[in-house]
Amino acid sequence: MSYYKIDNLEQYFKHYNKSIREPRKFWGKIAEENFTWYQPWDKVVEFNMAEADVQWFSGAKVNIAKNCIDRHLNKRGEKTAIIFEPNNPEEEAVHITYNELHQRVCKMANVLREQGIKKGDRVCIYLPMIPELAVAILACARIGAIHSVVFAGFSAKALATRIIDSESKLLITSDGGYRGNKTIELKDIADEALQSCPSVSTVLVVKRTNTAVNMKDGRDIWLQPLLDEASDNSVAEIMDAEDPLFILYTSGSTGKPKGMVHTTAGYMVYTAYTFKNVFNYEENDVFWCTADIGWITGHSYILYGPLLNGATTVIFEGVPSYPNFSRFWEVIEKHKVSQFYTAPTAIRALAKEKLEYVQKYLFKSLKVIGSVGEPINEEAWHWFNDHVGGKRCPIVDTWWQTETGGIMISPIAFITPTKPTYATFPLPGIQAVLMDDKRNEIEGNQVVGSLCIKFPWPGMARTIWNDHQRYIDTYFSQYPGKYFTGDGALRDEVGYYRITGRVDDVIIVSGHNLGTAPIEDAINEHPAVAESAVVGFPHDIKGNALYGFVILKETGEIRNKENLFIEINQHITDHVGPIAKLDKIQFVSGLPKTRSGKIMRRILRKIAAGDFSDYGDTSTLLNPEIIEEIQSEKK
Ligand code: WT7
Repeated sequence: MSYYKIDNLEQYFKHYNKSIREPRKFWGKIAEENFTWYQPWDKVVEFNMAEADVQWFSGAKVNIAKNCIDRHLNKRGEKTAIIFEPNNPEEEAVHITYNELHQRVCKMANVLREQGIKKGDRVCIYLPMIPELAVAILACARIGAIHSVVFAGFSAKALATRIIDSESKLLITSDGGYRGNKTIELKDIADEALQSCPSVSTVLVVKRTNTAVNMKDGRDIWLQPLLDEASDNSVAEIMDAEDPLFILYTSGSTGKPKGMVHTTAGYMVYTAYTFKNVFNYEENDVFWCTADIGWITGHSYILYGPLLNGATTVIFEGVPSYPNFSRFWEVIEKHKVSQFYTAPTAIRALAKEKLEYVQKYLFKSLKVIGSVGEPINEEAWHWFNDHVGGKRCPIVDTWWQTETGGIMISPIAFITPTKPTYATFPLPGIQAVLMDDKRNEIEGNQVVGSLCIKFPWPGMARTIWNDHQRYIDTYFSQYPGKYFTGDGALRDEVGYYRITGRVDDVIIVSGHNLGTAPIEDAINEHPAVAESAVVGFPHDIKGNALYGFVILKETGEIRNKENLFIEINQHITDHVGPIAKLDKIQFVSGLPKTRSGKIMRRILRKIAAGDFSDYGDTSTLLNPEIIEEIQSEKK
């Protein structure tokens, strides 16, 4: 009996039960049958949740880059591993076969070694979405260097914080990057960051935009000439299962960003397994995840998950609005994409535009469409389903986090019946539980609570870089013995989960627990509304009342805002109940969002409370200028 692929719903339940009853047998078998190991493990899993001490496959020796590439060369050497779609649609797309990827990664590995990089050293990668980014990551993995990718939209300050925290020795960047009709001067930003980063002695610079840059003597080196000289023969480092593979920073609700550490074997097994099942990946499919590789979604489902399965994965350099709002749809047609994985924020932005942009396309190649990053509201779900999936492609609403390494709760395409706004069932191995305020596990269905995971899974982060205590405090102390996700969820009558948003976004109005997501859903159902965010603000009688920040669609009609407020509240009454009606509404032109598309609610909460004093760290905001507008028009 093999457990790698789930074929039907009955089998899902069987595998799920097996994974709970005998997790060691379940994951051991998957690990044994689907990867190449230098040496097997002594124990599948050992753990102490109170100490946040978790080890998977300890004693095993493995190299994840070899599993991503070398393992496929016999069978898939001439198969396309990566399709690179440039920002400018007139620039030709590039197809990189597994053989070519192998050669490029080996050369890069040799360049890194020649620059003195050894197993365990940290390499910071600050690159746009170009093939070199994938090659650099895989080369680090090949030689056992720990990669720390910083999203190329981050500022000099954010880059510096991450380089300093990880004590990276070497930085890989480029002269610049393209994004829509803009060019981003990455090397200039890196230079500024490096002024406060003494640990970096070498900077390798990729040429992408041919922008004139400053090359600091003795520190900065153009990468291409080094690659041209490098041998394409490189012996991979033999890694321990629990050797760190990468650090990836995620913003905490307070304090400096947390460097989540993922290790080698567990992450490998988990990303491969979840990719294969959730997306129903089959041999000749073309998979496209629109995230940036600078986020966990890109790490796990542009690179590692797909390559571990010998898949063809798309790397898209551009943005959905350039040269027009059809770009995503055009790329799907052009590369015959089979699985398309994107974020609700992108879906809502595109749904706001004229339907012609999407209606021109038939999407014959598409089989599965997916969503990640935030709750997908009902309206966006239906738009995605109707206009992209053509009502025939299942939508996999995948819930997970930087910390979890891979997808945790999600439909399995073609197997789990989908339900709008529901992430549905936990994947095998994931022991999800809901907790009440008294820290008790809530049994049964049709309940709400804080989402925790009560048993380790292979893809989980192992620590916060240089701060294990913070890891324990943030995730393992609220609910002893369990991993606390920070999210609230409800479990419906059949056991499907719906993520209702961060627990700190839960608002208690007159003693009623209200998640922001369903209220926002109801508001967004109003035909004039493009997007909304609801926060609580102090209220004498109710404890908290609700404040809605609402972006209207650009329909051109002049609307009576008083009437609109009444109509929106009627929608809320209809969808959630009168208790969730807004006390105040403010029409805004934008919402403060992080670069990953998340609304920074703590700012909205302060504005709603009339407290304009200290917004905390706003360095990760994409549009800090919006704060002033919202503040000055506060109701
Ligand atoms: C938070 C994690 C790894 C995914 C990319 C974001 C929210 C993520 C969903 C979903 C509802 C979701 C949660 C989670 N989230 N996916 N399908 N439905 N909420 O990773 O930046 O670490 O954020 O994103 O609140 O805790 P991240």
